[in-house]
Amino acid sequence: MTSRDFVIAPSILSANFAKLGEEVSNVIASGADWIHFDVMDNHYVPNLTIGPLVCEAIRPCTQAPIDVHLMVKPVDRIIPDFAKAGANIITFHPEASEHVDRSLGLLRDSGCQAGLVFNPATPLSYMDYVMDKLDVVLLMSVNPGFGGQSFIPNTLGKLAEARAKIDVYEQQTGRRIRLEIDGGVKVGNIAEIARAGADAFVAGSAVYGAGKDSDPHRYDSVIGALRAELGKV
Ligand code: DX5
Ligand code: ZN
Repeated sequence: MTSRDFVIAPSILSANFAKLGEEVSNVIASGADWIHFDVMDNHYVPNLTIGPLVCEAIRPCTQAPIDVHLMVKPVDRIIPDFAKAGANIITFHPEASEHVDRSLGLLRDSGCQAGLVFNPATPLSYMDYVMDKLDVVLLMSVNPGFGGQSFIPNTLGKLAEARAKIDVYEQQTGRRIRLEIDGGVKVGNIAEIARAGADAFVAGSAVYGAGKDSDPHRYDSVIGALRAELGKV
């Protein structure tokens, strides 16, 4: 796997919300690959963030894929709204949907790539019977709801288990499924996380906390450092 196969997805949860358009274009200009878009409803998770209107507003600011992470319950009603708002990838938590297979089908039908998100205590078995409908498997390495938390070390073993399941599936079908990690990813641990099997990395506070707010190149060095660490893997 080369460094370019790795996806860096800064989470705009830690961006300056008063300058969101600029924040999105600056981070992509600095070398990030996807925009990770955290949607929280103060019901499934204890925090409230942004919805389809904000997704639509930032859509013209970049060509990069928008990776919508739904932390909402219920899931199905909001899927078409995000698809219309320009989301490329949409992931949701299986506990937040009454019918996981149906929600994945809805996502596919709306033209988006689809994924399941696994909380730290959620078993990976949720993916077993829906592999053909998954483009992304996202493992949470913190409990969802807030940026700036510490990486839960047990996630490394879980990543290796997920990697093994995905490798078997890819060998059988030739179809790729991304293995994304979300929470507490930093320059100091991204290489270890990649070695455990992740190939897409969400980083919120590590990226958007870098540099001076007024400098449009403030993200160059942190994204360069994350990429350099990935280059060692
Ligand atoms: C947490 C969110 C994450 C969060 C990551 O519920 O899903 O995407 O923004 O933030 P950091 O990288 O600061 O842990
Ligand atoms: Zn997220």
